[in-house]
Amino acid sequence: MSAQKRILSGIQPTSESFHLGNYVGALKQWVALQDGNDAFYCIVDLHALSGEIDPTLLRKRTLASAAQLIAMGISPEKSTLFVQSQVPQHNQLGWIMECLAGIGEASRMTQFKDKSAKGGADSARVGLFTYPMLQAADILLYQAHQVPVGEDQRQHIELTRDLATRFNTRFGDTFRIPEGYILKSGAKIYDLQDPTAKMSKSSGSTSGVLEIMDTPESNAKKIKSAATDAQREVKFDEKAKPGISNLLTIHSTLSGKSIADLEAEFADNGYGDFKGAVAEVVVEYFRPIRAKALELLEDEAHLLSILHEGSRKAREVAAETINTTYRNLGIVQ
Ligand code: TYM
Repeated sequence: MSAQKRILSGIQPTSESFHLGNYVGALKQWVALQDGNDAFYCIVDLHALSGEIDPTLLRKRTLASAAQLIAMGISPEKSTLFVQSQVPQHNQLGWIMECLAGIGEASRMTQFKDKSAKGGADSARVGLFTYPMLQAADILLYQAHQVPVGEDQRQHIELTRDLATRFNTRFGDTFRIPEGYILKSGAKIYDLQDPTAKMSKSSGSTSGVLEIMDTPESNAKKIKSAATDAQREVKFDEKAKPGISNLLTIHSTLSGKSIADLEAEFADNGYGDFKGAVAEVVVEYFRPIRAKALELLEDEAHLLSILHEGSRKAREVAAETINTTYRNLGIVQ
């Protein structure tokens, strides 16, 4: 038997650029896990409809997402890169997951609570509430062993496991119970201006968010003006020095140097020198990725053909799971 694992993960096309949190928390692992595994990576455009809907932007952002993923190293030869809406089985299984989930457990999802609180609970839409059940369907359709995500998705993975277990117990073995693949360090990257809040596409200001497609000058400036504490010692201490600790995590992940080595390297320097070094590491790391993504965006037909081919492969796997699921539910086919 092959030791290959089925990997599945998704990202929302809600911005023209992914941010550094997406990369460190999830996308870097997407690239690494392609080798030796059977990976499925999905641009979850249906999930993106649970926020503001702008048709022109959705199209643009879906293509920009594909270009960035390929530029980062997601290879259409090694893994299956596809668009969620092109695989209708996601909606089919999503409905079944909704019929399995309780209103109580869905109401406990912290992402729903946070997001619906932001715009006022009355203006939140039903799609935001049912979002985690569609996410469960994304994962279970592919019988994934592992789901590489950042810390903020832990609760959604737990719900997915609960729903899969419930289904298997009631209707017979149908779904593999997936595991989250969540890093110990880097699973939560913080906003540069408010290092107690997660770096996020939806944060009010972009001054603390490092966007991969932003210019090197702009990103260097954001890092150099990152909020730190009043001391001058470069030391990892998340409680007392959240800003410096965040920058240490970012440098360490991208440069491959350990946090201890970085602390030693900058022992005699102040924060200014250290921030300059972080800026250099970040800018040089993303420079070729940004250039490659911009180049890929020039040829829309090529990007679309990669996505169509990925979606075709994804539909084959998804159709098998839906057939078994329907059969086990007594749905006449
Ligand atoms: P999304 O699109 O918000 O984010 C994509 C990935 O980036 C991670 N991430 C972070 N990691 C570390 N620090 C941060 N500040 C940070 N911000 C974001 C997220 O954890 C995620 O892994 N619900 C998902 C999309 C989704 C999905 C799926 C994921 C839909 N279906 C199936 C996995 C499997 C989301 O909103 O991710």
